[in-house]
Amino acid sequence: MSAYSSALLPTYVPYPFAVVTGEGEYIVDAAGNRWLDFYGGHCVASTGHCHPAVAAAIAGQAHKLIFYSAAAQLPVRDQAAQTLVEFAGAGMASVFFCNSGAEANESALKIALKLTGRKNFAAFHGAFHGRSMLALSVTDSPALRRDYEALLAPTQFLPFADAAALAAADFSGVAAVIVEPIQSMAGVKTATAEWFAALREKCTRAGTLLIFDEVQTGIGRLGAPFAAQLYDVAPDLITCAKGMASGVPMGGVLMRAAIASALKPGDLGSTFGGGPLACAALIATLEVISDEKLMKRAQVLAKSIRGALDGGVVREVHGEGLLLGLNVGAQAKTLKSYLLNKHILVGGSDDPNVLRLMPPLTVSAQAVEKLLDTIDAFQTEGAAA
Ligand SMILES: Cc1ncc(COP(=O)(O)O)c(C=O)c1O
Repeated sequence: MSAYSSALLPTYVPYPFAVVTGEGEYIVDAAGNRWLDFYGGHCVASTGHCHPAVAAAIAGQAHKLIFYSAAAQLPVRDQAAQTLVEFAGAGMASVFFCNSGAEANESALKIALKLTGRKNFAAFHGAFHGRSMLALSVTDSPALRRDYEALLAPTQFLPFADAAALAAADFSGVAAVIVEPIQSMAGVKTATAEWFAALREKCTRAGTLLIFDEVQTGIGRLGAPFAAQLYDVAPDLITCAKGMASGVPMGGVLMRAAIASALKPGDLGSTFGGGPLACAALIATLEVISDEKLMKRAQVLAKSIRGALDGGVVREVHGEGLLLGLNVGAQAKTLKSYLLNKHILVGGSDDPNVLRLMPPLTVSAQAVEKLLDTIDAFQTEGAAA
C-alpha cells in the first residue's frame, strides 16, 4: 500500500511504501524492507525510533496515568519541567508545555504582544514557524500565507544573517523578533555568533523580545542543548517541539524568570499540553541524550560527514551537529532519488540545491559510512555515465 487511504486527507505526497515499524535509525516497511532514516521522521526521532528506554517510560506511564488536566499537579509534569529547564540553561527559568511547534510559537508570540503592548513582529526571509495564525504571520511563505493575508499580524521581514539590514531595521513598535537560529527548511542557512549578538543587543535597546524558534535546532541536535548556547546568546524565550519527547507530540515555551513572573494563571492554557505520556517521554529523552553522550556524538559525526563530503558532488556542507545541509547544486533531486532507491531517506528543502540530513542523534557510525559510500557511488556512477 503506497497511496493514502481515500478516507485520509492527502496533505503530503507519501513515500512509495508504508511505514510499519521503526528501530533505531531504521524504519521498516510492510514488505519488511529496512530504510535508513537520515530524514529522522522530519527531525523528530531524536533518540532513534522506539528507543527501548523511551518506549519503556511511555509504557510505564501509560499503566500509571495516561492523562489528567493541567488543573492538577502531576509529579511527572513537575519533573519534566525541572529537567528541561536544567538541560536548557541559557537563562531559562520556566516552561509552558503545549503540543506542537506551531502552538509553542503561537504562545511565545502572544506572550510578547501581552507583555509589550505592541502589535508588530519582525522575522526573517525564508523563515518557517508553523501554520497557526500568528506563527504563519511570521512565516515567509507566499504559498502558505496567500489565503489568509488579511488576517495575519503585521510583520517586517528582514534578510537573515545580514548585519547591515539588521542595523538599519527599526524595532521601535516591534513586540518580538522571532528567528530560527539555523533556518532549516530554507536550506539549512546559518548566521554568525556576531550577528546573533547584534540582534540581541538591538532587541534589548528597543524593548523587543527575542524568540529563538528551536523546534529543529533544540534538544541537543546541534551538539549543544540549544543553539542559544552554541552561539552564546541569551534569548528571552526559546520554543521547542519535534524531537523533545522522541515523537510523542509535545511543544514547549521556555522563558526567562522576568517573563514567567509577569504571567499569571489563565494567561496560557492547553488541554493536552504537558500530558503525562509526553512528560515521561521527555524525561526519558533527556536521560538518553545525557547517558549516551549524544551531543558529543552529534559533533563528532558532523565532523566526519563534513570531512568526507565537502567538495565533489556535494559542493558544500552547512549547518551544525546533526542538522546539515548538503549543497548538491542541480543534482540534488537526482541524488535524493538515487538514495531513495538505495533505501536511504534524506530531506529536501525550499532550496532546490540543498538536501537535509537530520537523522536520529543515535545514528551509528556504520549508518553514516553507508550514506557516505552511497553518495560516493552516485558520484562515481555519474562520472562514468
Ligand atoms: C523551525 C520550525 N518551527 C515551527 C515548526 C512547526 O512545528 P509543528 O509542525 O510541530 O507545528 C516547524 C515544523 O517543521 C519548524 O521546522
